[in-house]
Amino acid sequence: MPSDGRNVILTGFMGTGKSTVGILLAKRLGYCFRDLDALIVERAGISINEIFERYGEPRFRELETEAIRSLRGVSRHVVATGGGAVIAPLNRSLLREAGLVVNLTASLEVILDRLKGDRQRPLLRSNNTPEALGALMAGRENAYADADLRIDTAGKSVEDVVTEIATFVREHQ
Ligand code: S3P
Repeated sequence: MPSDGRNVILTGFMGTGKSTVGILLAKRLGYCFRDLDALIVERAGISINEIFERYGEPRFRELETEAIRSLRGVSRHVVATGGGAVIAPLNRSLLREAGLVVNLTASLEVILDRLKGDRQRPLLRSNNTPEALGALMAGRENAYADADLRIDTAGKSVEDVVTEIATFVREHQ
């Protein structure tokens, strides 16, 4: 049985709204908010783009696993993960241990629209066509499906998504 104050872990592809939803959800539940990408940047002292450029994606993935490990002993937090945090099976099991896993989804069209003009995400540079981004998303589908709850965010307000998750969390505490 999950204990009271179990963390809520938000997963999902870039542009599905994990941080926006996470901040509001934390307020709604009276939890703290933690953004794992922000934690990685804080620890590394350089941006995600710079980590990818200087050290490559594999090093970023190691830092990501370290950030996930830092959730051990943490409770009453809403955690936004990076879009690729669920790729490694080890990360998925660490995230499941850390709390309820909620996966946010949106169609490729919606994601392309939301990410238009973004310069902060290195994988948008290396996957700079709708086809490439769609293939990246499709390749991760099984990893995203490994969740306690999945919510399609397209056409819903942030408030609606937050309410849906908060209701689920209360039912599963
Ligand atoms: C990544 C998503 C990013 C960030 C990094 C890699 C990915 O996070 O972790 O650029 O592999 O999809 P967001 O999902 O918050 O954009």
